[in-house]
Amino acid sequence: MTITAEHLSYVYHPGSPFAAKALDDVSLTIEEGEFFGIIGHTGSGKSTFVKHLNGLIRLPSSQKHYKKPKAKKGMPSPVVPSLKVGEYDLSSRKTDFYGLRKKVGMVFQYPEAQLFAETVFEDVAFGLKNFERDMKEKETEAAVKAAIEVVGLDYAAVKDVSPFDLSGGQKRRVAIAGVIVTKPEILVLDEPAAGLDPLGKKEIMALLHRLHGDWCKTVVIVSHDMDEIAENCTRAAVFSEGKIVYALPPKELFLKADELFALGLDIPLTAKLRLALLKRGIETDCDFTVDSFVDAVLKKRGGAS
Ligand SMILES: Nc1ncnc2c1ncn2[C@@H]1O[C@H](COP(=O)(O)OP(=O)(O)OP(=O)(O)O)[C@@H](O)[C@H]1O
Ligand SMILES: [Mg+2]
Repeated sequence: MTITAEHLSYVYHPGSPFAAKALDDVSLTIEEGEFFGIIGHTGSGKSTFVKHLNGLIRLPSSQKHYKKPKAKKGMPSPVVPSLKVGEYDLSSRKTDFYGLRKKVGMVFQYPEAQLFAETVFEDVAFGLKNFERDMKEKETEAAVKAAIEVVGLDYAAVKDVSPFDLSGGQKRRVAIAGVIVTKPEILVLDEPAAGLDPLGKKEIMALLHRLHGDWCKTVVIVSHDMDEIAENCTRAAVFSEGKIVYALPPKELFLKADELFALGLDIPLTAKLRLALLKRGIETDCDFTVDSFVDAVLKKRGGAS
């Protein structure tokens, strides 16, 4: 399923003194199979954008009392926002939002805050029962077991445990299991590694790679961590003040150090090291993953390893 957004704009509390423009004419295509990153300073519109992807925020034209703006004489025709996710046209009132949510799994920031059931099993099964009301008990159990195992937890050891008795990283994995249990084609995660220690972060990113491809075709992550983006993403979109400034593969994006600094963003450590070497007159050509950076440096040294 390809995601195609055209001219999306969004204002919170329009017409009130608290009106806040969160998206401003955003157009972006995310291809099926990508591991896509969304970056940008705080308040730049990242969460607002991803909330559109499963219809949590609806386009005006998909709402009941929508009236098409009329073209004024002598003026260019009004820009029509549109959003398509695979076969789902989210600008249409007739969209099957229920079907869409089964295909687009959404993991919010700090998803463990939403755990509520008495056992890990019940929590993960809840996500499934919402969508598969007629599923037999055995099938539910098999699906829940598979989801708990794919997030890296021992099913037998955790299924009857209270989610509140688990560590922070484990809780987050249970929350992710509760979303991926329906096998969504697209998995969207808002800051999946936020607040975890370095090991917890590493485990979450390893988990997302395990899921990507086999379990969920496309993964979209919002992240503040440029190393994470460089290491994991096929492309990343940079948001600033509700607009997309760049949508590029890390290899091209992190050459734009000055531009990113000007937007209040950082660059990955590999990009900083590349700049430091450049100051000493040494050019390195890498895609900003640690491995490719090390390879590039070793190549300069004449292939030693
Ligand atoms: N519920 C809301 N009510 C009013 N304004 C909001 C609401 N949510 C977001 N905004 C405003 O919309 C703009 C974009 O917010 P958004 O949450 O999409 O940014 P973000 O890039 O996800 O930020 P962060 O990195 O802090 O999570 C900001 O100016 C924010 O203050
Ligand atoms: Mg956010």
